[in-house]
Amino acid sequence: MKKSDLSQFQTDLLDWYNANKKPLPWRETKDPYKIWISEIMSQQTQVETVMPYYARFLAKYPTLRSLAEADNAELLKLWEGLGYYSRARNLKAGAQQVMAEFDGKFPSNLAEIRKIKGIGPYSSASIGSICFDLVEPAIDGNLFRVTSRLFSISDDISMLASRKVFDEKLRTIISQDNPGDFNQALMDIGATICKPKAPKCEICPLQQYCEAYAMGNQESFPVKSKKLKQKQLYYHAFAVKSGEKWLMAQRPSDGLLADMWTFPMLEVTEDAVIELPSDLKEKVVKFEEIGQITHLFSHLKWHVKLIICHLEAGQVRDNLALYNQKWLSESDLKKHALAGPQVKLFRLLKSI
Ligand code: ADE
Ligand code: SF4
Repeated sequence: MKKSDLSQFQTDLLDWYNANKKPLPWRETKDPYKIWISEIMSQQTQVETVMPYYARFLAKYPTLRSLAEADNAELLKLWEGLGYYSRARNLKAGAQQVMAEFDGKFPSNLAEIRKIKGIGPYSSASIGSICFDLVEPAIDGNLFRVTSRLFSISDDISMLASRKVFDEKLRTIISQDNPGDFNQALMDIGATICKPKAPKCEICPLQQYCEAYAMGNQESFPVKSKKLKQKQLYYHAFAVKSGEKWLMAQRPSDGLLADMWTFPMLEVTEDAVIELPSDLKEKVVKFEEIGQITHLFSHLKWHVKLIICHLEAGQVRDNLALYNQKWLSESDLKKHALAGPQVKLFRLLKSI
């Protein structure tokens, strides 16, 4: 881009942003603790979904120190429904790290920000540009799309090496005075105008600079090699109720949905015959399949058959409780973080 075009480009972009930016609660502050929370929550999640979580999170953990000292179960419960739960665990670990390594003060240079657990190239650049005016392009999915169209960049964005191409291009156009607004303006354009399908070029402030628009091939960007299909996993989930309490099982402390609660489940093959887990076998007199839910993770798809189990009359429920299983009432459940698929299973139960 020519120098004169560049300054007009930045003016057009930032003017558009000032007139049209989304009114997000974290745009009222430059407090790096709050921006950090908002950026981690906003990864993989739409900002509209994030807003109530952000408010509850800061009400509960108003300071970095309070997050460093958070109770794990309460933290997980606050995150319930947002998905990608390792983000919550990393936030707490990161807060502990800032307490220990940076004397409780969030660092203001890129290299140190990058050292914090859970903060990668995107988050460090977004926090650094918004809070400390660091001139760093914050490249998320939106920026890949908008930038690839603006400059008709055909590098495959699923290849790690392509990031550098985008980073270098963006460095030639990023505002030196206001990199935080520059990044956020492109994010907003990506979210509201330059959408994956049918971008609204007619109202786009960047139209006159956009190579893809000029060529009429907007939708052929970004170039992305086909994603591998999610691995399919099959489960049987057993709904066992005694009085007002459900038998619930806690998942292991590492891996997918760590520490979260579900009905007891067995991983099975597709179309497996229903067989009760051994500890349920002698207590359950009757069971029936009542439906199935699916749940998509980034690399997996779960197919969960729900099987409702009827206990032998007079069965004492304590006899059933195993390690990492508990009988929980509806009000107990409110304090336990339920895995996403489990929320769907309860919904299915309620619908019958
Ligand atoms: N997505 C993630 N962070 C964002 C921000 N600061 N503004 C708009 N969208 C975002
Ligand atoms: Fe995207 Fe169209 Fe704007 Fe180009 S003109 S940046 S393709 S919305």
